[in-house]
Amino acid sequence: MILKQLSVINFRNYEEADLSLNSKINIFYGQNAQGKTNLLESIYFLSFTKSHRSFIDNNLIKNGEKFLKIKGIIKTESLFDTKLEISLEKDKKNIFVDGDIYKKVSDYITKLNIIIFYPDDLDIIKGSPNIRRRYINSEISQYDNNYLLILNKFRKIQHMRNDYLKKIISYNNYDKQYFIIINDYYIKSSIDIYFARNNFIEELNKYIDKIFYDLTGLRGFHIEYKNSLNIDNFNNMNFNEIEELFKEKLNNSFDSELRIGSSLIGPNKDDIEFFLNDLNLKNYGSQGQQRIAVLTTKLAEIEILKNHSLETPILLLDDVFSELDDEKKNRLLKYINQDIQTIITTTDLKNIDSKIIKKSKLFEIENGNIKNVMEVDANE
Ligand SMILES: Nc1ncnc2c1ncn2[C@@H]1O[C@H](COP(=O)(O)OP(=O)(O)OP(=O)(O)O)[C@@H](O)[C@H]1O
Ligand SMILES: [Mg+2]
Repeated sequence: MILKQLSVINFRNYEEADLSLNSKINIFYGQNAQGKTNLLESIYFLSFTKSHRSFIDNNLIKNGEKFLKIKGIIKTESLFDTKLEISLEKDKKNIFVDGDIYKKVSDYITKLNIIIFYPDDLDIIKGSPNIRRRYINSEISQYDNNYLLILNKFRKIQHMRNDYLKKIISYNNYDKQYFIIINDYYIKSSIDIYFARNNFIEELNKYIDKIFYDLTGLRGFHIEYKNSLNIDNFNNMNFNEIEELFKEKLNNSFDSELRIGSSLIGPNKDDIEFFLNDLNLKNYGSQGQQRIAVLTTKLAEIEILKNHSLETPILLLDDVFSELDDEKKNRLLKYINQDIQTIITTTDLKNIDSKIIKKSKLFEIENGNIKNVMEVDANE
């Protein structure tokens, strides 16, 4: 998939920008605080209908303005271009695909597939488990329309369950029948999520060792799925076995759940751990290793998205090159110099190999203005 055109109005520090992008590598360069990350954020917003760095949508509207609008034209494997448009005004978001309004985010979110890597992504390894769960959720939702729906179903039932746990004041005096029904729903929707996450991690593990090796020359990179049922691989058990184990765990933790009034077993407690052989990268990895580990994981997602939709996603790399040593920089450039549309930001073109620069479309960003400085020679 290729993002051919992008236009933004009143997005962050952009009043208006209109770009036509190259199908291979695009490089946006400029000093700090000029709008490089903002530009990538607008593409992220067009893909996910939300920002990767702000929970408050209104922050995205240019100061002093009342609305924002982002439009993109994408070219997919199908013959026709697709027009995407999202506008935001007074907390109301309107989403259009080829002029048709989309009411459900879950229907829209698979339209524009992107993989983004940005400096804060280190938190996927270093940060708290909820950052990793959020990461997994957003990645699966890009290829599985159903995932956001099962996640919402789970959240509703989890909410009901937690509410009820808080209401139970005495061990013997509560509606056991009602609680059994709640638990039954809770278990079933949890298992749906477990399977989706298990498959995602299993797929990642098919690719990451090789990619990590390509980037670093080291073998043994893998991800482990930590869940409160302590199951290594959900595909090794059938639904009923998992259900029984889940019930048993819930029985055993009933006292503790009552005490704290919240669910202690379930996908809300999931985590993943990144290992280089036996080394847990969260505790023992260097900053550079952690960065490459996350980058590797994101590059593996390109393969997963390709498998699911037959479309290659668009790769966004925010200021990645300044943090890597020369050898890793070159290995990464070699890796991305394939058939994948890539959008790179950097403060300094010196960070990028001149051979790659020659093949790229170059844009300079200054204070919310974008200037195309070099068109690529189509024959190169
Ligand atoms: N809603 C907004 N309205 C107007 N300007 C905004 C808004 N939100 C952020 N900005 C401005 O955008 C600029 C930051 O842009 P951005 O994060 O894209 O910088 P950058 O080019 O990526 O810089 P760096 O190299 O430091 O990462 C800041 O000057 C900030 O004040
Ligand atoms: Mg930035």
